[in-house]
Amino acid sequence: MMCMRVSVSQAAQLLALGKLVVFPTETVYGLGACADNPSAVEAIYIAKGRPRDNPLICHFYNTLEIERFGIVLSSVARTLFAACSPGPLSLLLTLPQSSSLAPATGGRESIICRIPNHPLALELLRIVDRPLAAPSANTSGRMSGTQIEMIEHDLQERVTGYIDGGEASIGIESTIVDARSVENIRILRPGVIGVTELTTVLRAALLRGEIESMPVILGRSEVDVDGQSTTPGARYGHYAPHTPLIAGSVREMISRKKDIPAYIATEEWLREAGCEVGSVPVLQEGIWYLTLGSRQDLSGIARRLYYTLYQLDQLKVKKACFVNEQWGSSSLGHALKDRIERILAVR
Ligand code: TXA
Ligand code: MG
Repeated sequence: MMCMRVSVSQAAQLLALGKLVVFPTETVYGLGACADNPSAVEAIYIAKGRPRDNPLICHFYNTLEIERFGIVLSSVARTLFAACSPGPLSLLLTLPQSSSLAPATGGRESIICRIPNHPLALELLRIVDRPLAAPSANTSGRMSGTQIEMIEHDLQERVTGYIDGGEASIGIESTIVDARSVENIRILRPGVIGVTELTTVLRAALLRGEIESMPVILGRSEVDVDGQSTTPGARYGHYAPHTPLIAGSVREMISRKKDIPAYIATEEWLREAGCEVGSVPVLQEGIWYLTLGSRQDLSGIARRLYYTLYQLDQLKVKKACFVNEQWGSSSLGHALKDRIERILAVR
């Protein structure tokens, strides 16, 4: 396998030539191309095996750049970006007709904009000086890449250059909020920023007089008023390892069923079942045990979730059992629950 590691300036040159580059963000790595270059955007679909009706998030250097492309930020959108960007918040906004960014959105009238909070991503966006369309860096349907090694293993030579930015600090994808209306906003994909955080930001802005009224914050729904999926990606199987996963309980783990060659669970569940805990998979009496981390540290679990699934795939076992948790009511707990349900649903 020959994957080319590149510097930010080399990556910028490749992108300008219409090539694909994997770059780090604080959520997950992105598979980037210039959003206004139709053939480069087309190459993203081919590299990922992504369905054509699934549009791409666009990454911008700052809100000025978003406006430079004619995208209008309402007072609410402006407030959200001012408080949360650069950061793990993506806003669905209206895209003007005949925008040069149409290749990334598949000709839709809306676009998802994100300003990533990673120094290398921001440096790249600054040098390239145009928005980058970038879905998560993984084969379509597989778990998002959070460390360069797992992405190189997955995408290999289908991508020209790879920028190594270390382990993604959040580890799950950004929150997507439909911010096309100032009356109500809707969470389309949960993430580390949730209803609580959005409410706090908007209340403060209301007190400062930056917004006229408090928008209603609607929970997650994959289907909009027209009965159409607002984020087409929500329709597809997602975030899955190659290894078939079944959901199981700690009781099954304690009984050490011999037909299950591997278990994934929190440290607490593993200890309860009398298993060893290690940062690499632990083999005990012919069964592999992989830890997600401690349930006391949801951020750590989010950071390691997809990498743990990658470690599982390396074991090449015929199936594995995932011992799920409640995950609690925090925004991150909610997002973890969403991802894990999807990981388990593909089976
Ligand atoms: O954290 C993230 O958001 C990462 C990093 C790389 O920034 N990106 C990411 O992109 O997760 P992706 O493509 O894996 O997920 C984007 C989701 C998909 O479900 C897609 O259908 C939806 O956003 N989407 C993108 N553009 C859209 C648009 N214009 N209208 C509706 N949905 C859109
Ligand atoms: Mg994705």
